[in-house]
Amino acid sequence: MLYAFRYLTYLLKAKDEHSLHSPFLFDLYENIIDSFAEYYKYKGIEAVREEMLLSDKIIEVTDLGAGSRISKSNTRKVSSIAKHAVKQDKYGKLLFRLVNHFKPKIILELGTSLGITTCYLATTHSENKVITFEGCPNISSIAKNNFKKLELKNITQIEGDFDEKLPNELAKLDSVDFVYIDGNHRKKATLAYFRQILSKSHNDTILIFDDIHWSTGMEEAWEDVKSSKEVSITIDLFYLGIVFLRKEQVKQDFVLKF
Ligand SMILES: C[S@@+](CC[C@H](N)C(=O)[O-])C[C@H]1O[C@@H](n2cnc3c(N)ncnc32)[C@H](O)[C@@H]1O
Repeated sequence: MLYAFRYLTYLLKAKDEHSLHSPFLFDLYENIIDSFAEYYKYKGIEAVREEMLLSDKIIEVTDLGAGSRISKSNTRKVSSIAKHAVKQDKYGKLLFRLVNHFKPKIILELGTSLGITTCYLATTHSENKVITFEGCPNISSIAKNNFKKLELKNITQIEGDFDEKLPNELAKLDSVDFVYIDGNHRKKATLAYFRQILSKSHNDTILIFDDIHWSTGMEEAWEDVKSSKEVSITIDLFYLGIVFLRKEQVKQDFVLKF
């Protein structure tokens, strides 16, 4: 009920390109966010999703995050994970377009799940490197198989708790260019990941937060991110929040139709 109310509030607030005066934002909205461009690479990824949706496999899951609203059981159907945990194609395609446009070299994803969105992040060009983190070994192994099917060789899988693995992996990197945070939707954890990632970010690093309206805690985390001094532009698309650090932009928060 509360979630539906939050969505209604978003719909009432959301604007289109006419509210954007900066050329950077106007171009971003017109050509990337609100784009219907289709890329041939989508086909293979969606075929893998279809296969996952039709799978009758049941696996044991290790949940290190905020849990699922759909199932509290420690066994789950792969088809149910594909239906409820994996981001819809609309969002995977948006991430693809962002990566295709900004060409980040080092991409992090917190929350691999079955690897469908990881494929969208990794498939634009093979020169980028995607490091994806997942706490459940059984889920991670299905993702590994999916990457093989699409012959994606630029993905490194890290298995284990984000709390432990993220600092280790960040310590090995000079900087990160693009980060998609889609796991452990808790306020404290989300803000802790944000702070750690900021320490390896640069002016053009882009951060994407998933499910920014999922709970009161996630909405509070999103407010904290928006008000951080390092952040200039934020874009609320309801299911995703996009964050830019670009110092040349005037600090501003947008709610845009998607
Ligand atoms: C919503 S799913 C990710 C969906 C995926 N990004 C996609 O769109 O295809 C979140 C994943 O994060 C993992 N996860 C949650 N909290 C975690 C933690 N603290 N450490 C490691 N993995 C975690 C869960 O096991 C789950 O598979």
